[in-house]
Formats: sequence, C-alpha cells, structure tokens
Amino acid sequence: MISKRNDRIGKTILLTGASSYVGARMYLDLKDKYRTIGTYFHHPLSKRFVQLNLTSKEAVQRIFHELTPAVVIHVANYPSGKNAINNEEDFIALNGKSTKYVVESANEIGAKVIFISSQAANNPNDLYGKLKVTSEDQVKSVHAGYLILRPSLIVGLSPNTINDRPFNRILRCLEDRVKIAEFDTSWKLQPTYLGHLSQIIDRVILGNEWNKIVPVFIKEIVTQYQIAHDILSRFRVNVNPIDLHLRIPLSKDDVTNFEALDLSPHSYHEMIETIIGEIKNRKMFSFSE
Ligand SMILES: NC(=O)c1ccc[n+]([C@@H]2O[C@H](COP(=O)([O-])OP(=O)(O)OC[C@H]3O[C@@H](n4cnc5c(N)ncnc54)[C@H](OP(=O)(O)O)[C@@H]3O)[C@@H](O)[C@H]2O)c1
Repeated sequence: MISKRNDRIGKTILLTGASSYVGARMYLDLKDKYRTIGTYFHHPLSKRFVQLNLTSKEAVQRIFHELTPAVVIHVANYPSGKNAINNEEDFIALNGKSTKYVVESANEIGAKVIFISSQAANNPNDLYGKLKVTSEDQVKSVHAGYLILRPSLIVGLSPNTINDRPFNRILRCLEDRVKIAEFDTSWKLQPTYLGHLSQIIDRVILGNEWNKIVPVFIKEIVTQYQIAHDILSRFRVNVNPIDLHLRIPLSKDDVTNFEALDLSPHSYHEMIETIIGEIKNRKMFSFSE
C-alpha cells in the first residue's frame, strides 16, 4: 500500500532498500515530509513497503513507470566486499547492474536519482569499491539531476537493528546484556552519523541544488573501539580493545562542503550524545504501522 503523507515537493520519492539498516532510518526520517514509497526484497520491515527485485530490469522499469517518482533514492546494495565471497554474480547484479537499471528507468520518466555510495569509491581496492565507482559514473548521467552521498562507517539508530552492520553490532551488546565486548583499534576512521544522510537529502530537494557529490563524515579520527566504548560505557558495558589488523586508509575526500551545511550533531562528542539519546528512546525509531 502507498502512504499519502505530507508532501513537500508534490511528488513521490521512491526509496530502494527501505528495510536495510541505512534505508529504514532514511524512510523514517523522510516519510512525514514527503510522499515516500519504500521497497524491500525479502524482508518487509513495514507493511507499506512494496516488493522489488532490483536485479530485474523489467521489474525496475515497471515500478518506475507505475509510480513515476520525482526522486529515486537508491540505497539497496550489498554493504561490504565480504558479501561478494562465493556470491560474485549476485553481488555484481545488485551493486553494478541495478544502478544501470535505476539510471535508465529514471531517465525514461525524468526522475532525479540520489545514490548512497561510500568512501570506498575513493579507495577502490575491492569489488565493492570498484562497483561504487562504476555506479557513481552511471548516476552522473541522470538527465534530471543527481546527488551522490559518500558516507564512511555509519552509526546511529535505525528501525533495522537486525542486519549485521557495524552499529547494530554495538547495539547487540546491549540487547545480549554482555558485560564485556571487544572492538577493533586498527581502522582509523571518520564516522558518519546516520541521520545526516536524510538531512542532506532534505536540504538538496528543498534547495533544488543537484549534480554534486557530498562526502558525509565527521572530521574527528576515531576507531570502532572508541565509538563502542563511548556508547556502551554509558550503559555499563565494558569494552576491550582488539587489533584486527584492518588496513583501510583514511579518507581522501574534502569535507568542506559537508561542514558548510552545518548539520546537527556538529562534532563526534555531540554525535555520541545524540546516539545515546536515540538508544534511550528506541521506541521512536520503529515503524508503528
Ligand atoms: N552501513 C554502513 O556503515 C555503510 C557505510 C557506507 C555506505 N553504506 C551503503 O549504504 C547502503 C545500505 O547499506 P546497509 O548497511 O544498510 O546494508 P544492509 O542493511 O545489509 O541492507 C542491504 C539491503 O539490500 C537489499 N537487497 C539485497 N538484494 C536485493 C535485490 N536483489 N533487490 C533489492 N534489494 C536487495 C536487502 O533487502 P531485504 O532486506 O528486503 O531483503 C537489504 O535490506 C549500501 O549502498 C551501502 O553500500 C553503508
């Protein structure tokens, strides 16, 4: 079923992967501002979502022509190169070919496309990064306008607390009531706050400012250990450091444009406080329907 909610642009937003960790929070943030339709593949997190297999060109074409969205937010991708192990054909179909289908169908109906890329597009040393680069190139050929968001490791509460994503691993320590957890110290990273993604999308749609790539991350350099420690210690879970020898280089992207947006939370410290508030108010981050 399609929800008819508040409607800032008078037209529909179609959000692929609305049941994913990232997509579910975006849907939650946007659904009361725009007429938003979420798609799922196997797991309908809300009964309002519509089923779509993005690896079928015909299915993508059909839903685009049927719903004629003004804006398509393409979120559904395998989120890590690890998902390609023993699964390369499906991985290429979703992270590569589906972007082509989305772009072609968007051009047929004159829709704008917002693509959730990754900092891995800056360092394409595996299939995940390489397909993010190819997808970004394809998205740049959308006639009506495009926006590419390049997050780093994403943290923040989502209605999807189940998928095995980095933030949900922190959350699971609370759910499982563990006393001591272990998190990696080797990957030095600049984290992305999940809520910033929909804040930027809202600004771009309302400002009608398209055709740009926006890296999205907070400048402070931390580790997964530090993030887990700073969150879990507030809930009396001890976190021990572990060196997993991850060799992921620091981002090369310039965040001047992102910082100029002046989005809240503004710093790592504010982000941790915001996330602790989200965890304490978890009921607000689930779909009531
Ligand atoms: N999480 C992060 O830290 C992070 C960081 C940077 C970028 N990103 C990007 O954010 C996006 C979402 O990542 P995530 O972490 O939210 O991943 P996720 O929770 O693992 O979700 C992946 C989604 O892909 C959908 N899917 C799989 N095969 C499909 C198909 N054939 N057709 C349609 N949908 C299909 C699944 O839908 P069903 O559940 O309905 O089956 C699932 O919800 C990805 O583009 C990822 O690259 C994530």
